[in-house]
Amino acid sequence: KNIAIFASGNGSNFQALVDAVKVGTLQANIALLVCDRPGAYVIERAEAEHIPVFLFNPKQYQHKAAYETIILAKLVEMNIEFIALAGYMRLIGPTILKHYEGKIVNIHPSLLPAFPGLDAIGQSLQAGVKQTGVTIHYVDEGMDTGKIIVQQAVPISVDETRESLQVKIQAVEHQLYPATLQKLLNFSSSFSTRTQLEAK
Ligand code: GRF
Repeated sequence: KNIAIFASGNGSNFQALVDAVKVGTLQANIALLVCDRPGAYVIERAEAEHIPVFLFNPKQYQHKAAYETIILAKLVEMNIEFIALAGYMRLIGPTILKHYEGKIVNIHPSLLPAFPGLDAIGQSLQAGVKQTGVTIHYVDEGMDTGKIIVQQAVPISVDETRESLQVKIQAVEHQLYPATLQKLLNFSSSFSTRTQLEAK
């Protein structure tokens, strides 16, 4: 399966997915990086891995629909079947959602529905909760509101800092995202084989 990863920043999750493909724990073809931020470190990672990059600057477009139409054309041209958001800092609009419904997932650094949106790690420290975690969920038009696929808890210790918590959360993310994507891709391919068989 051809998958596209959308990312805006450092790209450590992008790297974890690429590495999982290399060692065979994720059986997919990471065919494209979509990035909305010129200068993001994830672009260098993609180039080092010889993965094509579709880079765009949202400020150069009047509306979301304008740039999403161009992204969608690229996704279709490249036969992208599945999309993983990995630190992509914008909402996906109806242009892409309509075409890829149920085929877009996101990873978020909290136990949703707690602490959606920006700086979930800071929000959880501020709230003083004793545990937080990681959520992988389907993407809908809302902010971190889609159906939850999997969650893993991460304890917050009394002397936790933002840095130490981020390290713990990212370690979980880097395992959980490739493993979950592999399950989802397996499931959707066995599902389509089955429906193809039933159609015979
Ligand atoms: C991750 O913590 C992810 O949960 C959130 O954005 C962060 C991206 O980190 N959506 P990176 O760019 O993959 O290092």
